[in-house]
Amino acid sequence: MHDVLAESDALVDELLEADLIVAGVPMYNFGVPAGFKAWIDNIVRVGRTFGFDRSRPGLPYWPMLSDMNKRLVVLGARGDFGYEPGECMAHSNHVEPHLRTVFGYLGIEEVHGIAVEYDEFADQRLRDSLAQAERRIDALVKNLAESLATTVNS
Ligand SMILES: Cc1cc2nc3c(=O)[nH]c(=O)nc-3n(C[C@H](O)[C@H](O)[C@H](O)COP(=O)(O)O)c2cc1C
Repeated sequence: MHDVLAESDALVDELLEADLIVAGVPMYNFGVPAGFKAWIDNIVRVGRTFGFDRSRPGLPYWPMLSDMNKRLVVLGARGDFGYEPGECMAHSNHVEPHLRTVFGYLGIEEVHGIAVEYDEFADQRLRDSLAQAERRIDALVKNLAESLATTVNS
């Protein structure tokens, strides 16, 4: 069993060392790709990233990565469009909402999502979406750098 868990142990170690987790996640059939889901299933680990005690009535599960100042940035790619909150396909987006649930379960509440859409169309809308994503990434990097400086100096 220890041998079987070795890869999962290494992936959890990597996650525990990271302050900032940046994940490139294309949308495949409205969710995350199978390989990325396999990574999730390896880092959601009882006793390492979440706690479990069946004798605790009402609260048998708890997050183990809270208060560690970890942040997740999800850089998404979608062939279609309209998956942002409030848009026409938002109800079909099981990427960012799923990741917010999973990482929140572990105690990582700060999740930033920036996605490019219109990949299938390869027209001006894709170019505009790429340019907008790059602007949003620049703004996010600036914000994260400033908040890191505040954390280091405080
Ligand atoms: C198997 C598969 C399923 C896909 N499903 C969706 C989908 O549900 N919605 C969507 O907008 N785009 C979908 N796409 C398009 C991809 O999200 C888009 O082309 C993305 O840029 C691919 O990134 P990649 O080249 O890193 O795989 C799908 C692509 C593939 C290959």
